[in-house]
Amino acid sequence: MSKVTIINHPLIQHKLSIVRNKDTASKEFRALISEIGSLMTYEATRDLELKSVQIETPIAACECSELKNSIVICPVLRAGLGMAEGIHNMIPQAKVGHIGLYRDEETLQTQQYYSKLPVGIENAVVVLVDPMLATGNTAVYAASLLKKANAKKIIYVGLVGVQEGIDQLQQAHPDVDIYLAAKDAVLNEHGYIIPGLGDCGDRLFGTK
Ligand code: URA
Repeated sequence: MSKVTIINHPLIQHKLSIVRNKDTASKEFRALISEIGSLMTYEATRDLELKSVQIETPIAACECSELKNSIVICPVLRAGLGMAEGIHNMIPQAKVGHIGLYRDEETLQTQQYYSKLPVGIENAVVVLVDPMLATGNTAVYAASLLKKANAKKIIYVGLVGVQEGIDQLQQAHPDVDIYLAAKDAVLNEHGYIIPGLGDCGDRLFGTK
C-alpha cells in the first residue's frame, strides 16, 4: 500500500492557516499556495533516486550526484496550477503536463476536457498536483490517465485531504505515494472539505 505523509512542518502549517482564512484575498492566497508547494517539494522528493556524475570544480575533479530520472509536474486544472508553480520553482528543469477535468453535474462522473503531457513521461517521476483530495475521484482519474500515457512512477501532492479521498486513491492506485499538508474531518453534501479552505480554484483566480 502507498505511503501517506502529512507534512506538518511549522512554516507550512503557518501558511496553511492564512490560506484557510476566508478573509485572505486572492493575491496573498496565490502567493502562499505557491510557497507551500515549494516547501512541500522538499519532503515529497525525499525518496528520489540519484546517479553519480563526474564534475570538474574550478579546483579539482569530483564525483557528485544528480537526479536519476527526469521530473514531470502535472497539475489538474485549474486548482493545481497554484501549487505546481511553487513546485516548478524548486525543480526548474521539470517539464509540465496539464490535465483538465470537470465533474458532470448530472452523472457526477469525472470528465476529461484537456490533456497535454510531455514526451518522455514513461521515464519520468510524475508529480500529480491537485490541492484538494476530497472524494478522490479526480485524483484517481488523473492517475489513471497518466498511467495510460505510460507513466510508471507517480507521486501525489495536495494540500488538504480527507480519509475518504485518501482511501479511494490508495485503493485505485496503491503505488502512488500521497503527500498532504493537512487531513481534515469530512466532506459536506456538495463535496467540499470541512473545514477546508473553500473552492481552491475560485480563490486562486478570483472567480467568485
Ligand atoms: N475542491 C475544492 O476546491 N475545495 C474543496 O473543499 C473540495 C474540492
